[in-house]
Amino acid sequence: MTTEVTREFIQGLPKAELHLHIEGTLEPELKLELAKRNHVDIGQSTIEEVRKTYQYDDLASFLAVYYPAMNVLQNEQDFYDLAFAYLRRAAANHVRHVEIFFDPQAHTSRGIAFETVIHGLHRAIVDARALNVDADLIMCFLRDFSKESARKTLLEALPFKDWILGIGLDSDEHNNPPLKFARQYEDAAAAGLHLTAHCDIDQVGSIDHIRQALEIMGVERIDHGTNIVEDPDLVDFAVSHNIGMTSCPLSNSFVRPEMKGEEIVELLGKGVKICVNSDDPAYFGGYISDNYYALADQFGLSRDQVVQLARNSFEASWISDEKKALYLAQLDDYVAKN
Ligand code: HPA
Ligand code: ZN
Repeated sequence: MTTEVTREFIQGLPKAELHLHIEGTLEPELKLELAKRNHVDIGQSTIEEVRKTYQYDDLASFLAVYYPAMNVLQNEQDFYDLAFAYLRRAAANHVRHVEIFFDPQAHTSRGIAFETVIHGLHRAIVDARALNVDADLIMCFLRDFSKESARKTLLEALPFKDWILGIGLDSDEHNNPPLKFARQYEDAAAAGLHLTAHCDIDQVGSIDHIRQALEIMGVERIDHGTNIVEDPDLVDFAVSHNIGMTSCPLSNSFVRPEMKGEEIVELLGKGVKICVNSDDPAYFGGYISDNYYALADQFGLSRDQVVQLARNSFEASWISDEKKALYLAQLDDYVAKN
């Protein structure tokens, strides 16, 4: 299929990115540079060698490559460099607003202080204002760690509450349903944090997990979650409760045989606030505009559908109503002029 939109139109379209793991933006070049800087032996010394390790065909095999690579991140400056490199790319993709996931337990579990991580990320976010990107942080719990570890992480995070917009749930979903973290979600909500959770595609129990997250834990968004199409009542719930859904087409096509385009188009057509994102762009072959274009091209999206995805990205975001109105006006202006 072909699409009536061009790459240039997509690149320039003002958009928000709501599903982006900062650790997943670690490009091979920076990985090697940080390995050298911090004297960490990662077992590879060229970009080609690093790329050769990027072999995965499901979530678990991806995570097995993804987490060990984080060893190169040691100091506050490393986290700053990682985040600022991503934010530059976001600016080039006309991302006006981004809500960035980070995995504190992936770092605290190997002896890096929570403060080191958040200070580096936060400083990059402050500096990115000069790039015309406004960014915030979403702290994810690793769902394959214990709920006690999540509780400890939440307590570590609360002194930095003003730098954290919400919480999420990522890593290996198998046997780790959202309800495992019900208590932490309740406490985070009481502290004024927004709530989202990964419900990865085609998991054992996907529908149950989506239902728990939406109906019991009261999340405002679901990350991935396209299996929701299997349950029309849940789709109705998502529409009537204005639930955001953050899809990542290129990521989907790595961990499954296809990018779940039919599901994305169906949910878009039903009025779900679904949007397109890059997940772990250094590992899945493309940044946000690449994700929009791949989806548009393979599923023959119309210009109106592409624009609606970008509109949804702002509408599903956790920015103030004033900012939302401003960005949506910028979007309308761009569409009128292009
Ligand atoms: N799912 C689960 N864990 C992850 C993901 C994801 O899409 N990306 C990075 N960690
Ligand atoms: Zn993700």
